[in-house]
Formats: sequence, C-alpha cells, structure tokens
Amino acid sequence: MPDAAMVQQMFARVADRYDRANKVLSLGTDRRWRNAVAAVAGLSAGERVLDVCAGTGDLTLALARRGAAAVGADFCAPMLVHARRKGAAVDAASRPRAWLAADALALPFDDASFDLATVAFGIRNVADPVAGLREMARVVRPGGRVVVLEFCKPRVPLLRTIYFCYFRHVLPRLGRWITSDKGGAYSYLPASVMGFPEREAFLDLMRQAGLVQPRARYLSLGIAAVYRAERTTG
Ligand SMILES: C[S@@+](CC[C@H](N)C(=O)[O-])C[C@H]1O[C@@H](n2cnc3c(N)ncnc32)[C@H](O)[C@@H]1O
Repeated sequence: MPDAAMVQQMFARVADRYDRANKVLSLGTDRRWRNAVAAVAGLSAGERVLDVCAGTGDLTLALARRGAAAVGADFCAPMLVHARRKGAAVDAASRPRAWLAADALALPFDDASFDLATVAFGIRNVADPVAGLREMARVVRPGGRVVVLEFCKPRVPLLRTIYFCYFRHVLPRLGRWITSDKGGAYSYLPASVMGFPEREAFLDLMRQAGLVQPRARYLSLGIAAVYRAERTTG
C-alpha cells in the first residue's frame, strides 16, 4: 500500500519534468488515452467534472476543452503549479474552473456536487483505492459516473514480454535520466503497476466502493484501461 507522504514527496521531486517524462515514456500515447476518458464517460458540454489526482492537469484540461465545467484536485502543490500555468495559457472558454489542493481520500465537496469524477494514473497511488473510489462516488450525483484511467498489463504473449521488459528495465532508467530523479520515482512506477488490481479485479474494487454497472475499455492492446461505473440512483 503506497504511503501518502512518500507519494507526495515523490511527485514534488519530479513535478518540473513530469510532462516531458510522460510524453517520452508513453511514446506519445498518453494524450490519446486521456482523450478516451471523455469518450467512455459520455461527457456532455456543461457537465460538472471533478478530476482527482489531477497532477499537472492534462486530463482536467482535456475535459475542459470539451466544454466541461472541470475542477482539478491534487495533494501535491508543485504538480498543481504546472496545472495552473497550463490552465492560464488556454482561452477562457476552455479553461478549467478551478485547481485545488485536496486529498482524494477527503474531498472538500458536498455529496452529489458533480456529474462525473475522473482519475488518470492516480488511483493506484492512493493509500486506500477503494476509499478513494468511494469518495469519488460520494461527490457525484445519483446516476453520475466515476471514470478511471490506469495502466494495465497486455495479454498477447509477445507484447506482454516486450511490455514487461520495457517497464522493468527501460522505463526506470529513461525516467531517471529525463527527470534527474535519484529517489526512485521511476522504479516505483513499474512496481506500483505490477502489484495493482486490473481488469475484473479492478471492477471488483469499484463494486466494493458501492458503484454499479462497472465496465472496462482496453486501450493500445491492453496497455491501459478506462474503467467506468455509476453511482446508484436509489
Ligand atoms: C501519476 S500522477 C497522474 C497525474 C495526472 N492525472 C496525469 O494523468 O498525468 C499521480 C498524481 O496523483 C496524486 N495523488 C496521489 N495520491 C493522492 C491523494 N491521496 N490525493 C490527491 N492526489 C494524490 C499525485 O500527487 C500525482 O500528482
């Protein structure tokens, strides 16, 4: 189980180079994956969206660009510095409504404040993922959606071998080199992905959080997944 203070410090250390590392390490696919979140969520313009673990804000910005009234929240201030800077650079119509420092386990919002809650590559870093999902469910209205983008392990044998090799051996070295991080952030990344529930096991976490109708869409031959579930209307 990840330690919150360790996670916070780790992202603070890599914040300045996080975006660059993301682009290189995901071979440019991260943007396409974040765009898939809006499609799976069935986002409509004007919907109120909370993006938790927003980091440097790329998913929040993508949702706001599609007309959502988006709010980005993260507990790591240095990551939010970049989110705010990027938000300020886009035109007012597609700018997120707010960025705020908040813990995914104690969101500072009333019940049913949003139509949709999202999280991209964040839930596996939250100390208690089910509690995090439950908190996201709490802040969406009955019938509202919770949508999660996470890494997944591909099932096609050859791709699986290449993926494991890249993830275990290439990515930590490349990540260290791009970010100059000596603290192991890019060794933590593959370790956290390898041990995290995926596919049906993740859908079970959504059920444990009280969400209904969980389903998954797999991206890039199963390297990533978008999970979607709903808050009960009853
Ligand atoms: C891998 S980054 C993902 C950032 C962004 N969503 C993206 O797609 O690039 C994970 C983020 O989750 C944040 N995070 C982890 N645990 C958190 C928690 N309990 N509350 C709020 N943010 C958290 C970290 O600070 C970090 O910015």
